[in-house]
Amino acid sequence: ALCGLWAVHDALKTALPFLNKNHIYNLLGGNSIMEFKLSELQQDIANLAKDFAEKKLAPTVKDRDEKEVFDRAILDEMGTLGLLGIPWEEENGGVGADFLSLAVACEEVAKVDPSIALSFEVHTMLCSWPIWKFGTAEQKAKFLKPLAEGTKLGAFGLTEPNAGTDALNGSTVATKNEDGSYTLNGSKVFNTNGGEADVTVVFASTDKSKGAKGMSAFILEKGMEGFTYGKEEVKMGIRASVQRELVFQNVKVPAENLLGKEGEGFKIAMMTLDGGRVGVGAQALGIAEGAYNAAVQYAKERTQFGKPIAKFQAISFMLADMKLKIETARLAVYQAAWKMAQPDVKSYSVDAAIAKKYASDVAMQVTTDAVQVFGGYGFTREYPVERYMRDAKITQIYEGTNQVQQMVISGAILR
Ligand code: CAA
Repeated sequence: ALCGLWAVHDALKTALPFLNKNHIYNLLGGNSIMEFKLSELQQDIANLAKDFAEKKLAPTVKDRDEKEVFDRAILDEMGTLGLLGIPWEEENGGVGADFLSLAVACEEVAKVDPSIALSFEVHTMLCSWPIWKFGTAEQKAKFLKPLAEGTKLGAFGLTEPNAGTDALNGSTVATKNEDGSYTLNGSKVFNTNGGEADVTVVFASTDKSKGAKGMSAFILEKGMEGFTYGKEEVKMGIRASVQRELVFQNVKVPAENLLGKEGEGFKIAMMTLDGGRVGVGAQALGIAEGAYNAAVQYAKERTQFGKPIAKFQAISFMLADMKLKIETARLAVYQAAWKMAQPDVKSYSVDAAIAKKYASDVAMQVTTDAVQVFGGYGFTREYPVERYMRDAKITQIYEGTNQVQQMVISGAILR
């Protein structure tokens, strides 16, 4: 194929000698094959999220972390700006952009407030996405549209006390009734946006004997009889987001709230988490960048031995490595997000696993180094780097631990 391309190249060069190598490359469609630049729309969305994060989130992020409060009004405002419906079509209440736009928006929010980025990511990737992908027209009109417009908040309920990594081992059960409705019993833990969300995609066993084919997905609404909330987690990081237990006691779920077909639940959960892992990758990338930016600024301002500490190779090389890790993580995250929108890509599970594992490891390393650059001050709550470090840790754990990502990647290699 390359020889053929060079023959075309040579023919073009002879016929049109004023063309240079780049012109010919573009004429041959080079730019449509690999583009390392955001489109105008993607850049506009990134700028919108950045502006929102800097003006609205930055002044209050420290306070929210200290008070450990989730501020729902922030998500409402993001909805008004269109940030909660980035990848969905206009008829579904969305902006009609793509998953890369969503990833860059999540990254920008995470640079300033990783907790809000998490709530945003769960709402969009874990709740809206499965409804967009598997929902009926009626479900999209009833649930996806308000989620996209930000008038409703979304959540995703899979994890249980004894079913974390072993997600199939849950004990929440949905029993089918004669009228086609289901009765749900059980509980979920660590539920982000739990207690606040109006719409929650919940997974329950409809036939335990069928293993992965015996789980089904349901759309639950806040206020359904028997659907209540339990323990709220007290955490190391992402303190301005909420994780709460969901309790189902004989919750009657109408047949029209079954998402996808009965027995498709585990596949829906796994496919949803593929996208969620791209979102966590974007969040982790933003966390690393936030900490890095703070460290660069501090290293230029802080003086020791008569000069800024950035002038010492011990610090400047540390900053260089932080930058190197961030830029390589960006490639992994953006590529996975881009792949999500490609019609010819059958599965992006491995790309998502690579993006999530790599970016979250980078976030942990970069935030730890950022604290080091700040020295003793980095360990105090006066500066933001200790918060970034606390927030980074969970990105190696949720939406599939990094060991789960290794299982996904190695499973694909050895299949
Ligand atoms: N896409 C489509 N189908 C998939 C899939 C995917 N990504 N992954 C698995 N499947 C299918 C398989 O093809 C298989 O189907 P068949 O039986 O037809 O072949 C079926 O699902 C079972 O697959 P496995 O045998 O691989 O399943 P497993 O039980 O061994 O589990 C696992 C594999 C990777 C460990 C998986 O259970 C997993 O990802 N666990 C982690 C769960 C997780 O990420 N939880 C996070 C919850 S959300 C959260 O973190 C909360 C928050 O607030 C942020």
